[in-house]
Amino acid sequence: MRNETNINELEAQRQREIMNRLKVRFTQKSRELGRPLTYCSICFGCQMNAKDSEKLEGILETIGYVKTDSEDADFIIMNTCTVRENANLRVYGRLGQLKKYKKKNPDMLIALCGCMMQESLVVEKIKQSYRHVDIIFGTHNVFKLAELIENKLNTKGMVIDIWEGTSEIVEDLPSDRKYDFKCGVNIMFGCNNFCSYCIVPYVRGRERSRKPEDIIKEIEALVKDGVAEVMLLGQNVNSYGKNLEHPITFSQLLERIEQIEGLKRIRFMTSHPKDLSDELIAVMAKSKKICKHLHLPMQSGSTKVLSDMNRRYTKEDYLALVDKIKTAIPDISLTTDIIVGFPTETEEDFKDTLDVVRKVRFDSAFTFIYSKRTGTPAADMEFQATEEEIKDRFDCLLKEVQEIAKETCGRDQGKIMEVLVEGLDEQDENLLTGRLSNNLLVHFPGDPSLIGTFQNVKLTEAKGFYYIGTLM
Ligand code: 5AD
Ligand code: SF4
Repeated sequence: MRNETNINELEAQRQREIMNRLKVRFTQKSRELGRPLTYCSICFGCQMNAKDSEKLEGILETIGYVKTDSEDADFIIMNTCTVRENANLRVYGRLGQLKKYKKKNPDMLIALCGCMMQESLVVEKIKQSYRHVDIIFGTHNVFKLAELIENKLNTKGMVIDIWEGTSEIVEDLPSDRKYDFKCGVNIMFGCNNFCSYCIVPYVRGRERSRKPEDIIKEIEALVKDGVAEVMLLGQNVNSYGKNLEHPITFSQLLERIEQIEGLKRIRFMTSHPKDLSDELIAVMAKSKKICKHLHLPMQSGSTKVLSDMNRRYTKEDYLALVDKIKTAIPDISLTTDIIVGFPTETEEDFKDTLDVVRKVRFDSAFTFIYSKRTGTPAADMEFQATEEEIKDRFDCLLKEVQEIAKETCGRDQGKIMEVLVEGLDEQDENLLTGRLSNNLLVHFPGDPSLIGTFQNVKLTEAKGFYYIGTLM
């Protein structure tokens, strides 16, 4: 029998050896140049991509590159997203700009990876029109970056390595964490849901869960290293563990993670409403560590559109689920994703979406105009509304969502609550920014030495989507 653990350990070992070789090579090059070699990491898209970028940055730092925000760097890595068309357009725009830097520094290497690269038409376009790109790889072989760089240094021309899919999960490679005190942790990869508008299952492949032991081991090590909050990441965390050799539910995984001493907060995303179990609600309700926040994408409020979207729940199912959650966890904050202008959406269907928004009263909602993705079933559906009608619906929804969010988010004004202090306020450096369990931010005066600690803060003023507070 194929022993996957051994194969993956050998692969990790092989990659570490390549990293060692490159480190020697780049140290020498840096000495010749009399300056450090720099890299610039650009990341589009979701938290999965952000996590992949941390891994890519970990590899680049290990082989001797130093991070810079400037695109005038020796190595550019662009991690792409393709969930909506405008994400693709931004990548082409950035690639055009990079050309002038490469002219100035011909040794500069440009690498592209992520979801967009899993689409063959995109790779063809880059091969033809963006010849200054050096390395292209996809979502399944992020762990191979060092090997691809070595290949590039040893050959002429573009290095392209796109995998159709994978069962491999290579563990124990470096990762450069953005924060010392909080960290994303992959628990599963891919998606099996095939919502009819969504390209993710095609570019991120079938669902694969990491073994609970590997996840626990990683979190224990993070906690030892000072991490107090983890965000468990997966496209559909509620179906975690189903295909493991020894199946385990997401709730059981959460209960095991809860036992980790020193870990203070657990977050997770994303939950698919169709798979959210009573067991999970019960575990969340009694947990001391799981944060009071649930991101529960509704996508549409119309049962007909939900069916066309292949979401496998109705408007009534969604509302009943929300009721059940709010009853069990009254202080929960609910957030969501909504798509406006799905091809079969009529004005009546849109009214159903507004109706659900008014009934649930989300803390916040990410609203998107439907974007046609070639290759998905919805791409062949006929539109029931004009572009203008869809734009009007979008504006109307946004207004509604914002008005409700302003009221909902202010419900804790006057209370004293605990925040994890995350950093300086981006607008005002005299203030600190902390995050409540329910994911809202609080800005308050305080000493930067508090960053990374938990503090009690009085929520003195609700500002709509955040609070102004005072340290207790
Ligand atoms: N068009 C618009 N929005 C989309 N999303 C996914 N695919 C599309 C698309 N083709 C949205 C969904 C999902 C979020 C991550 O992106 O709302 O929950
Ligand atoms: Fe896309 Fe649906 Fe999978 Fe989410 S659950 S990634 S929307 S296919």
